[in-house]
Amino acid sequence: MLLELRSVSREFRMNDGRILHAVSDVSLGIEPGQALGLVGESGCGKSTLGRLCARALDPTRGSVHFDGRDVTRLSPRDLRALRRSVQFIFQDPHSALNPRMTILRSVSEPLILHTDLRGARLRAQAAELMEMVGLPAQFLSRYPHELSGGQKQRVCIARAIALKPRLLVLDEPTSALDVSVQAQILTFLKELQSRFNLSYLFISHNLAVIRALCPRVAVMYLGRIVEQGPTEEVFVAPRHPYAEALIDAIPVPEGRQPARRITLQGDIPSPIDLPRGCAFASRCGRAIAGRCDAAQPGLYSTGAAHDARCHLYAPA
Ligand SMILES: Nc1ncnc2c1ncn2[C@@H]1O[C@H](COP(=O)(O)OP(=O)(O)OP(=O)(O)O)[C@@H](O)[C@H]1O
Ligand SMILES: [Mg+2]
Repeated sequence: MLLELRSVSREFRMNDGRILHAVSDVSLGIEPGQALGLVGESGCGKSTLGRLCARALDPTRGSVHFDGRDVTRLSPRDLRALRRSVQFIFQDPHSALNPRMTILRSVSEPLILHTDLRGARLRAQAAELMEMVGLPAQFLSRYPHELSGGQKQRVCIARAIALKPRLLVLDEPTSALDVSVQAQILTFLKELQSRFNLSYLFISHNLAVIRALCPRVAVMYLGRIVEQGPTEEVFVAPRHPYAEALIDAIPVPEGRQPARRITLQGDIPSPIDLPRGCAFASRCGRAIAGRCDAAQPGLYSTGAAHDARCHLYAPA
């Protein structure tokens, strides 16, 4: 396992002293070269989980292991190595690039910080990175405002792969782009992944995007993973009622019949006052009174490497 989270929780203390549960008891693993998709509604904890994976944030409880080592106990030197091995791609390429820096400067910054490449060799390396992301080397002397959104995201990717990372955490990497550019970037990310045997944690609220890129998917609801399994299987036969509703909400291409329609009703409970039972019970059409609202469901196996956190699957 390249990355493993063991019962990881992350809480935030609010100004008034109350505790917000952003991520609760999450366990997941990503193998080398594997892409895991992470989906869920806004505010369910996806970005927080991404930051925990990259150790941009420490867990309140639980542990994060990279290459078999607990990342919260690394020496400063090993932590530096970890920072090289795990890179982040953000949603908004516009704000991820410093407007006053040339593209050359942005792309070569990690190389300046972590290697002794300088001068012509540094520039040659930057040009090679540009080529890898499909941009002409002449762009190196440009500034971010002279590039399109898709081109800027390619620059961000060039910078992220400069130090040959092993894991990329991609947090909604195409959401800020036009649909046509989105498709290009996704195709490119897929090629990049197989070319360098990269592992991805791919965060998106767009399930179609996850389906195109990730053989496995985890569905999050209010800080917890409620379903995890092979993407195709989750799409065709979702187990958790929340996953079912999410997949039903995907627009069906014109001319095709929607199979069924489940609309999510009611509000998501507050991550500050978590309900005692299943967090989805208040919106779930299949909730069993006295059970689902009373006790937290476990994560139950519903097939090969396919689990759901739902009382419906509790062994009899
Ligand atoms: N630094 C912080 N301090 C306090 N609360 C935070 C902090 N970071 C995140 N949260 C809260 O944690 C919860 C999860 O936030 P997070 O950004 O991880 O959600 P998300 O799934 O990425 O949402 P989106 O799809 O909108 O990006 C939210 O309720 C958010 O308000
Ligand atoms: Mg987010």
